Amino acid sequence: MKNILVTGGLGYIGSHTVLELIARGYEVFVIDNLSNSHIDTLDRIEKISGKRPAFFEFDLCDKDRVDKFFSQNQIDSVIHFAASKAVGESMQVPLKYYRNNLLPLMNILEAMIAYNVDRIVFSSSCTVYGQPDKLPVDEKAPVQKAESPYGNTKQISEEMIADTVRASESMKAISLRYFNPIGAHESALIGELPIGTPNCLVPYVTQTAIGVREQLTIHGDDYDTPDGTCIRDYLHIVDLAEAHINAIEYMHDGGNKDRIGYFNLGTGRGYSVQEVVDEFEKVTEQKLNYKIGPRREGDVEEVYADPSLAEKELKWKAKRGLGEMLKSAWEWEKNYRKN
Ligand code: UD1
Repeated sequence: MKNILVTGGLGYIGSHTVLELIARGYEVFVIDNLSNSHIDTLDRIEKISGKRPAFFEFDLCDKDRVDKFFSQNQIDSVIHFAASKAVGESMQVPLKYYRNNLLPLMNILEAMIAYNVDRIVFSSSCTVYGQPDKLPVDEKAPVQKAESPYGNTKQISEEMIADTVRASESMKAISLRYFNPIGAHESALIGELPIGTPNCLVPYVTQTAIGVREQLTIHGDDYDTPDGTCIRDYLHIVDLAEAHINAIEYMHDGGNKDRIGYFNLGTGRGYSVQEVVDEFEKVTEQKLNYKIGPRREGDVEEVYADPSLAEKELKWKAKRGLGEMLKSAWEWEKNYRKN
């Protein structure tokens, strides 16, 4: 069970997960086409862990190449991260999202069947719940019509995996529905590094504080929340990474009897955008230049997880608090700009 393929393993969540896998003694195989990641992340992983994962640079849309990979490498489980993830861009170029997010998964599932690889962990998102009627949201909440092509690809992927598992005798799958992962590894050698202008809140905050961006705009303060800004469930990237290894081990140990599982990964606590900004200023002793702007199209008002199923079944719980998350994001930003 030791050989794990991590697709998108040089990306933000992928690279942190690779480190956790190495720390727990797994042999890691990374496939990444570097479309939204950096090759020097491989060196950084080696520097932190003392181990360099086997690295394969190619596009998972290439079915023959995927097949060749599986024919040449003995893989026990797959963790599939590789995907495009900018919600706004997916509204403008939807086909890029349908192609990049669905074709690789199809190719991988077909290769898994062909080469008898039985376990897959899929990187899904709380976006499948839209604005839930009940908070905190648990896994029984209905999946709502997606607001964006990006969100739709996550829903379709979950269904594609479920159908494949149903039709197979032995395949097992877990979809992990992430809330808002932020922060960076304690070494400050890897972290979130979006190409171009960040869409997500925390990289925008750290880039503003360091002077790469002039000013943060808080998207709306007229929501029906205590301070008027949106509420999200932010969780530390290292906590999130750890959950993937728990999921692999859970499947291996015969945990998911139905062979398909869905788990929310969050802290269970929501923070508003204003609270994130205030906490950032407090823990980093930086004054942040920000203003209030209009609402951002497609944003839900408030969402936070009921993570109790992951705690019960996967024995996973987010441990790190908001201050630690923001401090680590800031250490990473400072360290990255220094070089
Ligand atoms: C969304 C999706 C998430 C998806 C992710 C991909 C939901 C609930 N979440 O995260 O599933 O995986 O996109 O990128 O659909 N904000 C500002 N100013 C900024 C940037 C953000 O005020 O410059 C605010 C947003 O309005 C939001 C909060 O910060 O209220 C978090 O935004 P962001 O980090 O972009 O994540 P989500 O939109 O929650």
